[in-house]
Amino acid sequence: MSERTLVLVKPDGVKRGLVGEVISRIERKGLTLAQLELRTVERSVAEEHYAEHKDKPFFGELVDFITSGPLVAIAVEGTRAISAFRQLAGGTDPVEKATPGTIRGDFALEVQYNLVHGSDSAESAERELKLWFPN
Ligand code: PPS
Repeated sequence: MSERTLVLVKPDGVKRGLVGEVISRIERKGLTLAQLELRTVERSVAEEHYAEHKDKPFFGELVDFITSGPLVAIAVEGTRAISAFRQLAGGTDPVEKATPGTIRGDFALEVQYNLVHGSDSAESAERELKLWFPN
């Protein structure tokens, strides 16, 4: 079943020059890019994006980080795109959970600087795509 998911190459990924690497892995998997934008996001969008984590102790830091510089937002499309990208990304903790061969497992060390975000469910994907690509 074809679906869409929101992928972010977070500011650490852009700074480290890993945008091409992430896009290449998405494309090699067989997924396609439906929309793509480089932007520095306003605080209000970041807070809405991460609203489900607003009571977590790291919320402020997470919003500071995601607004700290340009990121790349991508609407990714394809068969089971939501779980397919989560699999490409690897677990949230790049050392304890992400395995080698995944984006985080290959390129990241810290939970905060884990390079990419991918929607975690069909409901999240719908909500996040509306927020990032309202048109
Ligand atoms: S949780 O607590 O299990 O709900 O968290 P999780 O879903 O694994 O992570 C949600 C996003 O928060 C980021 N995160 C953190 N940022 C900074 N500091 C700490 N300690 C931290 N822990 C989790 C994590 O990178 C997730 O970002 P996204 O963009 O959703 O991958």
